[in-house]
Amino acid sequence: MQWPHKDLLDISQLSPEEIRHVFEVAARFDEVNTRSVKKVPVLKGKSVVLFFAEPSTRTKMSFDVAGKRLSADTFSLAKSGSSLQKGESLKDTALTLQAMHPDCIVIRHTSSGAARFLAERLSCSVINAGDGWHAHPTQALLDGFSLHRKWPAGFTGKTVLILGDVAHSRVARSDILMLTMLGARVRLCGPRTLLPAGVGTWPVEVFSDVKKACRDVDAVICLRLQLERQEAGLLPDLREYAMTYGLNETHLDQASPDVLIMHPGPMNRGVEIASGLADAGNSLVLDQVSSGVAVRMALLYLHAGRSRELTLQE
Ligand code: CP
Repeated sequence: MQWPHKDLLDISQLSPEEIRHVFEVAARFDEVNTRSVKKVPVLKGKSVVLFFAEPSTRTKMSFDVAGKRLSADTFSLAKSGSSLQKGESLKDTALTLQAMHPDCIVIRHTSSGAARFLAERLSCSVINAGDGWHAHPTQALLDGFSLHRKWPAGFTGKTVLILGDVAHSRVARSDILMLTMLGARVRLCGPRTLLPAGVGTWPVEVFSDVKKACRDVDAVICLRLQLERQEAGLLPDLREYAMTYGLNETHLDQASPDVLIMHPGPMNRGVEIASGLADAGNSLVLDQVSSGVAVRMALLYLHAGRSRELTLQE
């Protein structure tokens, strides 16, 4: 497939075929990650800027690892220590980075729309690594890739529950788009104050009782309680939230016997997920991290190396 997109800003810009193509390319790079020498020269001479104006461990590290395994040069800019702290605007920061001729800028920012703002002004590719509450498309694609490896026959007939702080979650928004596009049914569950105002119009079933929401589900994606994005007063008591909406063994009594447990990380163990479930045999939490490297290799390959053929043997 000739990749038609300069930028990756949200899942809504992709077709189901394009999502499956990302999975196919990621599967080939996943094999590279199992070799003793985990490096291929497909992006040799290409430059990737990692512009992270908000903290990150998984996304930033995996884009860095992904770029280096493809032989690209990766360069990092964080808010702390940059001229953003002296008041330089996002536009001037972006134009300054572009003047150094990168092939791709990966951006994480606290503001929804920051990635699009850059993509509309820069000629290089822009990949959204999370913008405000809006979207986290690379997380959705890696979640999808982890599930695709478990469900090779496809997502049709599968039910996925997204549990917790949906209102403040860019992961939930991108996961819902990806999962429904691939044919899965999606359920949401959380306290009313942590569900978005317009959730009634979303293509999901909404539950308030976790046990009922878990009935017959094939996977549960737990969401981090995003206290840093919340106004005061949305939760009366953290302990009560953990007991009522934190995923535990009892909630999963009537889930599918093969239910998969996921969390995008970072996790608040004992809050949105019981610690034992995070480490259980059916937990995909670390598999999601490994998938993240393969999927981000695929995305850098497709965006930073848009005119290259995929020749992993090189
Ligand atoms: N899931 C995720 O985006 O994690 P980081 O914030 O650590 O990148």
